[in-house]
Parts: sequence; C-alpha cells; structure tokens
Amino acid sequence: MRTQIVAGNWKMNKTFEEADDLINDIVDFVKNHNLENTAVIICPPSVYLELATDFANETNLHVGAQNLSNYESGAYTGEISAPMLESMEVGYCIIGHSERRKYFNETNEMIAEKVNMALKYNISPIFCCGELLPEREKGNHFDIVKKQLEESVFHLNKTDFGNIIIAYEPVWAIGTGVTATSDQAQEMHYYIRSLIKEKYDEETGESTTILYGGSCNSKNAKELFANPDVDGGLIGGASLKSDEFIKIIQSIDD
Ligand code: 13P
Repeated sequence: MRTQIVAGNWKMNKTFEEADDLINDIVDFVKNHNLENTAVIICPPSVYLELATDFANETNLHVGAQNLSNYESGAYTGEISAPMLESMEVGYCIIGHSERRKYFNETNEMIAEKVNMALKYNISPIFCCGELLPEREKGNHFDIVKKQLEESVFHLNKTDFGNIIIAYEPVWAIGTGVTATSDQAQEMHYYIRSLIKEKYDEETGESTTILYGGSCNSKNAKELFANPDVDGGLIGGASLKSDEFIKIIQSIDD
C-alpha cells in the first residue's frame, strides 16, 4: 500500500507564538494517535523550521520547507540552501508551488534544478504541478501537467524518482474555495500515475504518492481521499487551524 500523506503548507502565515501553539497542537495529536499508514508533514515558514524539528524529533511528525535555492551555497542574499535544510533534519521540501511560479518567476527548468538539489541532500521534494483556469477551460490541463512533469522530474533515474512526492494542485482551486470535484481529481491523478508507469515502470507508478491540493478542507477531504489514486492532500488555509487540520488527518486515517 502506498504511504498516505497529509501535508500542511502554512505559506507566509503565523507569528512565532502562533506557530508554537499550532505545532504543539499537532504534536499532541500525533503523539496520542496511532496513525497506521499516514504520514503527517508540516511545512512552516523557514524561520520556524527549527522549532518544528525540535518538537517533531520526539514524534512521527515530519517537517518540510516551502522552498530551497537552486544554488548550493554562496552570495545569494536571502536564500536558503538544501545543505542548510539537511543539517537541520528537514526531510521534505515543497518545490514548484504555483505561487512561486507566479510571483517569483520559477520556470520548469529552475524547478528541475531545485529538485536535483533537494535529492542531492536527502530531501524529498513535494513536487507541485497543476494547470491555470484558462488552460483547463481550453482542455489543455493534461498537456500542461505532462510538460511540468517532463521538464522538472522525468529526467530523474528510477531510484531518485522513488523519493518524489507529487502534489496535483489545480491553480484555480488554490485559496479560492473552489475545490476540484472528486472526479476531476481522480482523473488527473490517474493520468499522472499512468505517465509515471509509462516513463518508469508499473511498480514505480503504483508506489508514487500523489497528493491533491486546492481548497481541501475537513468537509471535502474524505471524499477526495477516497479516490483510488488520491493518496492524501497538500493543505493550505485549512492547515492553519489545528482542529481543522486534525480533522483532515482523521479523514484519511479512518
Ligand atoms: P489552499 O488549501 O489554501 O487552497 O492552498 C492549497 C495549497 O496551495 C497548498 O500548497
């Protein structure tokens, strides 16, 4: 069975005290519940990563960053490198999020460099892909996602690809309250899995975790996660409130 994952992308939210409270609540929940086949990952802003890894050390909570540099070290003011994250025991990193593509001009090529950098330092990329609304309206959504995969992760060999988590996040569903329907999510996840099988092999396709992201909340999570090719979620807004995030974790681990 594939690992089911619920990951929280906090984006640029929370003061130190708020972050401390939220991490504490999640740690309490994870400590007191035996989550059989579900991994919980939190991705706070990088200034809170140490806080998160300190707490997470005692539990099976995992910690991810929201971004890393495509450079290894040097004069890149403001950037955070993969070796830094590795040295802080950060095991995951969101790469290729649509907000970074849109506001920070990240291209598929740059995202491929970041994926390589993460893997070099034992960080599992949570690789985000997904189409814009006009692309879906034109019926181009499958082609867009295929191109994103081809240009940013399909250059990897099978062993490295085995460390990738895919997150399908249709851009029109992010922060809009408009969730993809269960059928739309399943259809794209099935397509992504078929591409992986075609590129690598059946086993790699079957074992890759593919998350859904975009206005996922405690009300719609159960239905989305019930799809055979949806292995959990990458949660934005709903990961900022502990009770809501915990309900989402419970909906996958039922
Ligand atoms: P929302 O859950 O707020 O729509 O954000 C999804 C997302 O972008 C997660 O990376």
